[in-house]
Amino acid sequence: YQNEIYFNGLFGRLPELPLAHAELARRAEAALPPGVWSYVAGGAGDERTQDANVTAFDGWGLVPRMLIGATQRDLSVELCGLTLPTPLFMAPVGVIGLCAQDGHGDLATARAAARLGVPMVASTLSVDPMEEVAKEFGGTPGLFQLYTPTDRELAASLVRRAEAAGFAGIVVTLDTWVTGWRPRDLSTGNFPQLRGHCLANYFSDPVFRSRLEKTPEEDPASAVLAWTQIFGNPLTWDDLAWLRSLTRLPLILKGICHPDDARRAKDAGVDALYCSNHGGRQANGGLPALDALPGVVEAADGLPVLFDSGVRSGADVIKALALGATAVGIGRPYAYGLALGGTDGIVHVLRTLLAEADLIMAVDGYPALADLRAEGALRRVAR
Ligand code: FNR
Repeated sequence: YQNEIYFNGLFGRLPELPLAHAELARRAEAALPPGVWSYVAGGAGDERTQDANVTAFDGWGLVPRMLIGATQRDLSVELCGLTLPTPLFMAPVGVIGLCAQDGHGDLATARAAARLGVPMVASTLSVDPMEEVAKEFGGTPGLFQLYTPTDRELAASLVRRAEAAGFAGIVVTLDTWVTGWRPRDLSTGNFPQLRGHCLANYFSDPVFRSRLEKTPEEDPASAVLAWTQIFGNPLTWDDLAWLRSLTRLPLILKGICHPDDARRAKDAGVDALYCSNHGGRQANGGLPALDALPGVVEAADGLPVLFDSGVRSGADVIKALALGATAVGIGRPYAYGLALGGTDGIVHVLRTLLAEADLIMAVDGYPALADLRAEGALRRVAR
């Protein structure tokens, strides 16, 4: 991608979208309605944890190695039986339809996944039903993110549908059984979920429908109300065996930041952990997710660890990998790409991150991801 950009540049053809995240965010803010921008860009409290997620990457630096001749780089990873061409994935972004001009942000994201082989974790809160999203994946595997409803039969139905639709794993998000304190949304009274924009997976579900007196088509307001009553399930460790019993697909727990939780989840038989603080959207005052990562990786003791929260550049991707992440996710950056250019915009964001990450591996002499994890590759930045 870098070569393409330089080559086009020689002929005066500049990239249509920005390469740096800050500029991408500025352009997305200008392009999106203010309420949508607040929803996507905002976080919990005064957003210091959200900001700290990003600045935590400044605390680490890769030590360059010379005379390696890293002309070929291998960015492929193994994750829960899948071989992925790169370690990058798209984190679940609920209501992402708000960022798409035609409203179908889930389909646009799935098409970007298909183009680059970068998996998408499809949110439960989608405008497009999971079956339609999965049809767009092409040969790229996709994961389904479950917000576990209090209605266990409904939960089982959602998982069954994800299996039938061909998803390759279930990501259970643990940190969002209640929505965080988000002043940007609270002050605008803007909570897009409540307007029913993203409840396609529920409204199309036979179990959910069986709970309603009138269909969601006949009486959408009552259906939305019914959804609010089943949405938030404060899962406990006692629920893990039940969750595990729901599927043979790989089960991945999202929101694990404490080593003790990592150990306990591993003992409960999950297939992977997902270290994340929801991009700082759920609780303010928390440790930056990157700072939690090494402890989770150590406790995971060989179990794969997915990571997201604050990744804004190819260098950030490299640092998360060097700290032991098996795969690295982004949320807001691809939502901004979608806002600015649909599927092409997302592809641009992913290619930008991958090109920079690959180039860093070349320049710094780390041809394989395993090399990044070698002793002394990544060091704390002295202040
Ligand atoms: C999210 N995130 C999220 N996570 C999840 O498990 N299910 C979801 O539906 C959503 N919805 C959602 C909406 C929006 C607008 C954002 C920005 C994020 C969290 C997401 O998966 C991921 O953890 C963070 O976005 C990662 O942080 P960055 O990359 O945005 O800093």
